Amino acid sequence: MLFATSEVHPFSKTGGLGDVSGALPHALATLGHEVLVVTPWYRTLRGGARPLWIGDVQVPFAGGFEAAGVGTLESGHVRYAFVGHADYQRDDLYGYSDDVRRFARFTRAVPQVAARLGFRPDVLHAHDWHTGYLPMVLAHGWHLPDGFPGLPSVFTVHNVQYQGTSGLAEALWWLRLPGALADDYMNHFGSANAMQAALGFAHHVTTVSPTYAHEVQRPEFGYGLDGTFRHVRGKLSGILNGLDTHEWDPAADAHLPRPFDRRDLTGKADAKRALTAALGLDHERPLLGVVSRLADQKGIDLVVQAGERLVAQGWALALLGSGDAGLERDVRALAARHHGSVAAVVGFDEALAHLIYAGSDALAVPSRFEPCGLSQMIAMRYGTLPVARDTGGLHDTIDHQRTGFLFEHATPEGLLWATGLARAAYGGSSWPGMVDTAMRQDFSWEASAGRYAELYRTVVASAR
Ligand code: ADP
Ligand code: GLC
Repeated sequence: MLFATSEVHPFSKTGGLGDVSGALPHALATLGHEVLVVTPWYRTLRGGARPLWIGDVQVPFAGGFEAAGVGTLESGHVRYAFVGHADYQRDDLYGYSDDVRRFARFTRAVPQVAARLGFRPDVLHAHDWHTGYLPMVLAHGWHLPDGFPGLPSVFTVHNVQYQGTSGLAEALWWLRLPGALADDYMNHFGSANAMQAALGFAHHVTTVSPTYAHEVQRPEFGYGLDGTFRHVRGKLSGILNGLDTHEWDPAADAHLPRPFDRRDLTGKADAKRALTAALGLDHERPLLGVVSRLADQKGIDLVVQAGERLVAQGWALALLGSGDAGLERDVRALAARHHGSVAAVVGFDEALAHLIYAGSDALAVPSRFEPCGLSQMIAMRYGTLPVARDTGGLHDTIDHQRTGFLFEHATPEGLLWATGLARAAYGGSSWPGMVDTAMRQDFSWEASAGRYAELYRTVVASAR
């Protein structure tokens, strides 16, 4: 199985896509699949990764052929191939005006790189818009290596808000595709749209939770593609993400002062002490954590607007996030106004994230939409009850008043209603039972990896 992704933990990560790309291939390898993960060779590769450079491939791109470097490494029965090019030698993974071109190049490199490694997949699994053109390239692209034309594909939608749009003519030119395709699925009201091309050309489309598969068919969630989702619903399904339960394990987490499990929560109290000391927070208050990208999707503006009233409810707040400059300013300002009861750290900080999941009593996840969401699952595993919007994967993973608290309205009042319930329960007789139930949930990849494996089999069989 060939797995194409724009980020993969531990080498690169901006959010949950990195977690999923890190964990799912291992779970599939455990089931006996041979997996090659192809991803860009970013300048900022982390985790001490040193791929072995094995040479160049000639990538069909922008009307000709251009060289790209290939690096490989192997870890836990999964093979990784890194695509090297000046395009990926930048400070950040994304956020550049030429992103669509950068990932069109990556897309086009994937089959050549796999072939260079002698890898003959029976199925491709691509993720989000960055690799969205791969199914179309496999169906119609010129200069594909032997064994790749017509390769069956599964495409997973992690977030429909980001679609990879550009001009039609330039996208076809970059990807080296016949001009007639300009009238096909890639065309979304006159623009080229990588996500829609994937919805059209992939043999099967999944979303990262069952509820999100329904939501994307509605205008409020579809970001202009709801009609396309309805059109392809015969090949659309939702498979819930799992968690890397080794990476996220309170009983063996090197970032914590002391490990803990549900039978002995002393280590959790230690984590809270360490966290409140590090952030200068009042240790006596119940602690509400936030670990999030600061983007409109995540509803962190609701936390900011409710800030005063959350403190009045009795909470201390520990916020970690980065992204939107306005939201970064807002969370910093909230913390400045509430010294000792609100702390905000702006940045991407793996170690602090672990400590917040472990040391908080509750985690706020007020997302406007949430395709799956991993932070609520991590929180539950660490005995921290999520207070979350009732949408997407949050709906599918949290049981209201059993493993967390769900609210319906994406308003400060909606959030405050749920934090009020949590605040009333905190310290009472129901809280320890909820924590125990949350910690006993099974969020491992085992079941979901099996569902993907079954899907690959179906897709391969029906393509024959
Ligand atoms: P999304 O992918 O939409 O950002 P998820 O909940 O699926 O949301 O995954 C987010 C992942 O990124 C989690 O592993 C979370 O811990 C991590 N994360 C988000 N923001 C930060 C941050 N500022 N520092 C460290 N980790 C972060
Ligand atoms: C996206 C979604 C998030 C999901 C993650 C991994 O980033 O926003 O909900 O958990 O992908 O699938």
